[in-house]
Amino acid sequence: MPILSRENYWILETDHTAYALGVNARGLLVHAYWGARLPYAADYPTPPAADDYASFSGFGHLSPEEYPGYAGAKYTEPCLKTTFADGVRDAVLRFDGAEASAGANPALRIILRDVHYPLTIVLGYRVHERHDLIERWAEIRNDGDAPVMLERAWSALWHLPWGGQYRLTHLFGRWMEEWQIRRELLQPGVKVKESRRLTTSHNANPWFALDRGGADETQGEVWFGVLAWSGNWKLAAEVTDYGATRVGIGVNDWDFAWRLNAGETFTTPASVAGYTIGGFGAASRTLHDFARDRLPHGKTLHPVLYNSWEAVFFDVNEAAQMAVAERAAQMGVELFVMDDGWFHGRTIDNAGLGDWWPDEQKFPNGLTPLIERVNALGMDFGLWIEPEMVNPDSDLYRTHPDWVIHFPTRARTEMRNQLILNLGRTDVQDYLIARLDKLLAEHNIKFIKWDMNRNVSEPGWPDAPGDARELWVRYVQGVYRVWSTLAQRHPQVLWQSCSGGGGRVDYGMLQMVDQFWVSDNTEATARLGIQEGFSQLMPAITMESQVTHMGRPLMSLPFRFHVSMMGVLGISDDLRKWSEADLVTGAELIALYKEIRPIVQLGNQYRLLPAQGQGFTAVQYVSKDKAAGVLFVFRVHIPEPARLPPIYLQGLEPEARYAIDGFDAVRSGAAWMHLGLRFDLGNGESTVRRIRRVA
Ligand code: DGJ
Repeated sequence: MPILSRENYWILETDHTAYALGVNARGLLVHAYWGARLPYAADYPTPPAADDYASFSGFGHLSPEEYPGYAGAKYTEPCLKTTFADGVRDAVLRFDGAEASAGANPALRIILRDVHYPLTIVLGYRVHERHDLIERWAEIRNDGDAPVMLERAWSALWHLPWGGQYRLTHLFGRWMEEWQIRRELLQPGVKVKESRRLTTSHNANPWFALDRGGADETQGEVWFGVLAWSGNWKLAAEVTDYGATRVGIGVNDWDFAWRLNAGETFTTPASVAGYTIGGFGAASRTLHDFARDRLPHGKTLHPVLYNSWEAVFFDVNEAAQMAVAERAAQMGVELFVMDDGWFHGRTIDNAGLGDWWPDEQKFPNGLTPLIERVNALGMDFGLWIEPEMVNPDSDLYRTHPDWVIHFPTRARTEMRNQLILNLGRTDVQDYLIARLDKLLAEHNIKFIKWDMNRNVSEPGWPDAPGDARELWVRYVQGVYRVWSTLAQRHPQVLWQSCSGGGGRVDYGMLQMVDQFWVSDNTEATARLGIQEGFSQLMPAITMESQVTHMGRPLMSLPFRFHVSMMGVLGISDDLRKWSEADLVTGAELIALYKEIRPIVQLGNQYRLLPAQGQGFTAVQYVSKDKAAGVLFVFRVHIPEPARLPPIYLQGLEPEARYAIDGFDAVRSGAAWMHLGLRFDLGNGESTVRRIRRVA
């Protein structure tokens, strides 16, 4: 029974974990337990009740409320902050009922109501039993006649078990250097991670992992989670003055307001979280499995792709595209993607965005002749778009200058010569749906790379129907509406989310996309670290990775391929300049990739040796049935003389016997996992080894 309930007390059980909550003697909905699943229902603790402490901290301050409103004598981070029509600014929430539903993912809905105002909060809990994850969200409903202003409406407050000092693992970075991992001990107070950029951002990600007592990749207790949201978000990891540790997560309250009119409901995005004793590696694999099960195209293997960007940048035309397409096809590429530069007026980055039809000079007969020729070579065709953007030098902007995000009295700051269309507006959404629907209906397009190349400035919405600060949320809802409408109408399309690299990678995107462009940094050694960071929360099947010409010194072609073969393999380079030998090497490595692709894209991933800041790293993938695996080893740079450390495999069946490329012996999985493999690699060298179960 995934949801056990006794009077006003609920235990949500997954295969290996449990989460318990209930109503305490004060009538507050409080957290009771989150951790390993326990043998008996009676094992779980009762909901804690707190008393006032001295005259400085009320009982609310000391209670682990599941969804605290800002009210009373409470000074820790609340989930909800409201202003009622009469100016009252606190939300006194009390339990008022619950209902549980069965089904594939059983759910619990708990109702809280304000003690005076007709404001209802429904807290949703969904149990993902097999994935060992709990999903939470909140629905805030105005049952009265007067509007209520929401100034904070988070998705969840995740309470960690009492005691011990927790370490927070989080991600930070910047454009070209996303996905850097940081671990730090939480101190009393609040550690905030957030985005104020309108999108998820390159700078941080709404993902967290907390451990106490030193978890590592293979062992230790880790509590981890994500927020499924693609706009401004905030994560507050708080250690209270009484030593309680909790993580609040949701839409950012920075510059946020939402006017909740009579009868309306505001539904927060979901936060999904879990617990494991298997360390950071197991935490990642749990999320990988969950993400893979959510992908719009399920477990369909992703094709090897070619992308024109690093080869020709804006200089696209049919002849140049065909010249590289022929070589790509010859090497075994399955999908040919034409990047930026193909549409009306687009010769450089100062014009064209918004005018989504083929440039008349570059493609006088439209795109169909090129698509047909690409198809004749045996490849599918894909295209780049950046729908949320407009260049002032475009027909769209000349017709609708009021459609961009702006303040009327301020200059419209351009970044990369572009402005952002206000996708909070339904007329903008409808225009984009119609335009892009036509593009997709008229062409045989199997893949779309949806880009977004700047962050917001002057976040104004002069004629907003509600509070102009709703922009932050309505924009994202608009992106979701446009994108998912197109995805539903064109199910043959595989969508990739790109935002100048990894600026919009999150679980909210997974309702539309199967793939992310992880970083514009394709330098192979930097990429090892970037991919390691990305793998904390997303599986390899969602990670397109390209072999390009970036880097000084340029790593060898096999090294660059090996790095990219750890995700969805892509190539973006001017193949007209590749030697015959390079084309042969490329073809061989693409063939090898196709062989190992099911293991990489659908198997379990093990980060055997860390990559960031290290000179020697290794990653292993094992098929779900443990019949096959593949090991990637990279020596970036370790000064000589060096004796490289052994590599201990993981995830094999201990009793089964395995053979590994390059090793004569056939040994048990246990032996390969305990003996350690040694490799003789020079600086800048790498190797890929297949692992096969032989008995
Ligand atoms: C930024 C993307 O990250 C690149 O891969 C490329 O598509 C360019 N935009 C095109 O403008």
